[in-house]
Amino acid sequence: MEFSGKTILLTGAAGGLGTEVAIAFAEHGGRVLAVDIDDAKIAALLQRAAALPSGRIRVERIDLLQPDLVRSRMTALATDGDGIDIVINNAAIYPSKAFEAYTLEEWDAVHRVNVISAVANVQAALPGMRRKAWGRIINVSSITFFGGWANLAPYVTSKGSLVALTRAWAREFGADGITANCIAPGAFPTDAEKIHPDPEGYTRFVLDHQSIKRRGAPRDIAEAMLFLASDRAGFITGQTLSVDGGWVMQ
Ligand SMILES: NC(=O)c1ccc[n+]([C@@H]2O[C@H](COP(=O)([O-])OP(=O)(O)OC[C@H]3O[C@@H](n4cnc5c(N)ncnc54)[C@H](O)[C@@H]3O)[C@@H](O)[C@H]2O)c1
Repeated sequence: MEFSGKTILLTGAAGGLGTEVAIAFAEHGGRVLAVDIDDAKIAALLQRAAALPSGRIRVERIDLLQPDLVRSRMTALATDGDGIDIVINNAAIYPSKAFEAYTLEEWDAVHRVNVISAVANVQAALPGMRRKAWGRIINVSSITFFGGWANLAPYVTSKGSLVALTRAWAREFGADGITANCIAPGAFPTDAEKIHPDPEGYTRFVLDHQSIKRRGAPRDIAEAMLFLASDRAGFITGQTLSVDGGWVMQ
């Protein structure tokens, strides 16, 4: 199995996209450390995981809003057993409102969950990756970074930071056998979409913009991640791959 012997740290693992990513890596033999805090979503993830061999998905309840906690828990995970081979920074919060209505505390919260946790995860995993001369980092950005969505300023800024970190990490860790890439999902019908007031109108808007005329499925994201995490993608680093049905083209 492609990922047997590999440990994958995945944040936001119980979310709409994260669940499918967790299941996909576990199906391919990986051992997934599934970080989330939403009990109902975690229960649903564990229900799906029950069909897999035991031990493939281990839930870690870690509140990514708390940097000190994140630092200590991630360091403990990275120094436990054989360490972390693949880091997937997927968790996000996405409060939506006019720019002038955001409090500075809201800006801070978005950056803690979406960006600072990614920094802590990679700092924790890096020594082990360097020791093995092999590692994969996958950040999850967003189509919103490329423009077109108002009322999401802290979120869009956080997604830009993840693109920037992808490039900085690719350059800094390339000589150590570690790649860093980013996935920019398009519009997927998950909880993130419930912020839109008119679901049918929004679906029409999405399909008008996509080249491929079906809604994206979480498995589309998982497949791209499986590829970027594999040895087949060993010569690809610093890139942002849009998985959006052919919407943004760069
Ligand atoms: N769904 C889309 O259409 C879409 C589009 C573009 C980008 N994305 C990105 O894809 C990623 C996954 O999105 P999704 O649609 O699955 O969203 P989601 O809201 O379903 O999942 C996010 C997960 O993060 C977890 N989380 C939030 N705050 C946390 C905290 N403080 N500590 C621990 N966990 C926390 C939530 O419990 C949730 O399970 C995000 O980075 C998002 O920005 C999604």
